[in-house]
Amino acid sequence: MKSIQDQLDLNQKKVLLRLDLNVPLENGKIADATRINKILPTINFLLKNNAKIIILSHVGRPKGKIVNELTLKPICEDLKDKINTNIKLITKNLKEINSIDLFNNPKEKIVMLENLRFYAEEEENNNDFAKRLASLADIYVNDAFSCSHRAHASISEIAKFLPSYSGLQLNLEVNALNKVTSEIKKPITCIIGGSKISTKINIIKNLISKFNNIVFVGGMANNILEYKGYPIGKSIKEKNCEQIIKEIFNLSKIENCKIIYPEDVSVGKNLNSAPEIKDLNDVSKDDLILDIGPKTMKTINNIIEASNTVLWNGPAGYFENPDFAKGSFEIAKKIVEKNKAKTIYSVAGGGDTVTVLNNIGVVNNFNFVSTAGGAFLEYLEGKKLPGIKVLN
Ligand code: 3PG
Ligand code: MG
Repeated sequence: MKSIQDQLDLNQKKVLLRLDLNVPLENGKIADATRINKILPTINFLLKNNAKIIILSHVGRPKGKIVNELTLKPICEDLKDKINTNIKLITKNLKEINSIDLFNNPKEKIVMLENLRFYAEEEENNNDFAKRLASLADIYVNDAFSCSHRAHASISEIAKFLPSYSGLQLNLEVNALNKVTSEIKKPITCIIGGSKISTKINIIKNLISKFNNIVFVGGMANNILEYKGYPIGKSIKEKNCEQIIKEIFNLSKIENCKIIYPEDVSVGKNLNSAPEIKDLNDVSKDDLILDIGPKTMKTINNIIEASNTVLWNGPAGYFENPDFAKGSFEIAKKIVEKNKAKTIYSVAGGGDTVTVLNNIGVVNNFNFVSTAGGAFLEYLEGKKLPGIKVLN
C-alpha cells in the first residue's frame, strides 16, 4: 500500500480524500464524532503540505436519492470548527460537476462534496461517476477504512483513474488489525451484534475456524432465534437466512466453535416503550426484541471471563434508548474489568459500538478500537477488501 507519507509532492496538488464521515446523527446533530476526530491528522498533514483537499463521504443510506436529513452539512460544520479552516460544502449535482466548480477563490483550501450516496452510481461502482470524480483532482487518498469493504465508485473504481494512496488513519487501522490477527491468544471470543444482518451473516461462516466462541446479540441474533423456532414478533430480521444459519451451526460443530445466542430478551412494543424481560417462548406478536436479558448477560460474562481475547462488533440492543442499552453496557463493563486486570486482549469495532463505548467513557479501556464494523469483520475473515486491493 502506498501511503500519503511516502515522499509525495503534495504542494498545490488537488487531493480527492475519501473519508467515512458516516457518524450517527440525531435530529441533525452529531451523536458521536469519533470518525471525524480520527481523520484530523490526515487533514492536517495534507494542509501542512499545501495540498488542496476535496473531501468525499457518504452518510446514512439515502439509496440514490437526495434526502435532506442526510446532508453532510452538520458534519462539514463540525470539521470546520475542529480544524479552524473554512470548508465549502459543494451541493452541485456530482454527475455534472467540473473542476472549474471548485477552488474559485485561490485562498480556499478545502471543499466537501455533498453525500455521495445521493447518487445511485456511487453504490453501483459506476465507471463514469468515478471518472467524473477523478477528473476533479491529481491524487486520490482513501482514509475510510470503515467503508473499504464496499466496492463503490469513490472507494474502488476511482483508483483506476488517479495515483492512489492510503491515508494515516487507514494505515493505523490496517496495522493494528494485522497485529491483532498475528498475535491473537486463545480462547478467542467474537461478539457480533448490531442491525446490519445482511452485511455480516455471510462473513460468520469464515470466522468459525478462527474463534472458540461466537456470541450473537442485537439484531444479528433475531434470525438465529427464529431459526431455532422461537417467536420474534416484529423484531428486525433478514429474509432467506435459514440455509446460511444451518451451515453456521454445522460448521461450528466440525470446528468446535461454540455458538451462543440469547436465552432471554428485553422487549418493547416500540422503540420508546418501557422494557419488559421475557423468556424466549413468551415473545408476543407485537413485541420488538430490543436487548438481551439478564440470563444471557450472565452467560456472556462467563464466556468473557474464560477468554484471553475478545473481539466485539455491534451493540447488544437498541442502545439509543438507555433502557435497552443494558446488555451492551454489561458486556463493556466485563471486558473493561478484565482489561484492567490485564487478563484479556480486547478489540472493538464499528460506528455504533464506538458510540456505546464513548457513552460510558470506556473507549480507552480497550486495547484497540476500530472505527470499522463490517470492514473490520471482513478483514478478520482474511478477505481482500475492495478499497484496499486498489491501493496495492
Ligand atoms: C459503516 O458505517 O459501516 C460504513 O460507513 C459503511 O456504511 P454501510 O454499511 O451503509 O455501507
Ligand atoms: Mg455504521
